[in-house]
Amino acid sequence: MPDSIYESSPLLAQYLLFHYGPESLAMPWAFGPREALGFPVRCVTECVDAASLPADARALDAGCAVGRSTLELSRFCREAVGFDYSHTFIVAASTLCRDGELHFEAPEYGMMTTPAVARLPEGIDLSRVRFRREDAERLPEDLGVFDVVLAANLLCRLPHPDRFLERLPSLLRPGGQLVITTPHTWSEDFTAPAFWIGGTPDSGAPLDALNQRLHPHFDLAETKDLPFCIREHARKFQWSVAQTSVWRRRDTPAE
Ligand SMILES: C[S@@+](CC[C@H](N)C(=O)[O-])C[C@H]1O[C@@H](n2cnc3c(N)ncnc32)[C@H](O)[C@@H]1O
Repeated sequence: MPDSIYESSPLLAQYLLFHYGPESLAMPWAFGPREALGFPVRCVTECVDAASLPADARALDAGCAVGRSTLELSRFCREAVGFDYSHTFIVAASTLCRDGELHFEAPEYGMMTTPAVARLPEGIDLSRVRFRREDAERLPEDLGVFDVVLAANLLCRLPHPDRFLERLPSLLRPGGQLVITTPHTWSEDFTAPAFWIGGTPDSGAPLDALNQRLHPHFDLAETKDLPFCIREHARKFQWSVAQTSVWRRRDTPAE
């Protein structure tokens, strides 16, 4: 796989800001969509049913980028594993855990930047957290099984999303929770249209297309619309709405 945009410095700065703030830089405009901030935290707090997890719960954050959702999952899971294909992102997440902070330059406009610091959130037990570089389409067997799998905005960045979806039944324990968020930003830059999950005239609505693939092993429990906002620079922001679906792993496959 060639080096992706997710190895670049601008994307690293974007994701550090998106995951760790500070809010004053992530959205400096008082009239901006503040409810769209904190997405990597909200996909955990608003979508995972922490109360129903066992004491020794394991969580997997697939396509974790710089790791904020992994850290949030570790608050109620004894082990939280975050993986991403970007070496740059995994090194950043690991460095933040080691040093407690990570300095970076937030883009202002043109070549101008503002110094910023990503800080480890309070109350994280780092002995529960692991980051590793993995390809979602070729996951090794040694990952084991999980009580929670989160795949936030990953699907439409994979060349063959079905390869990841097909691996999901073996990644979750019966009763386990699967949270998939996606803004359905399908693009030929990442995925040939033949492999899109919905979003073509033939493939139907994206949630139906996802249900078709997941239904034998998962029941759809809930859907939500989660807004998120990524700062490109001080005067340009991507405001998106992720369609979020929460699934439960069935004990036995549906007929
Ligand atoms: C749109 S970002 C979402 C990141 C994070 N989950 C979030 O919500 O902020 C997509 C992520 O998927 C990662 N990614 C792309 N292809 C991947 C692959 N084949 N295996 C694992 N991660 C991949 C990228 O490096 C990037 O971190």
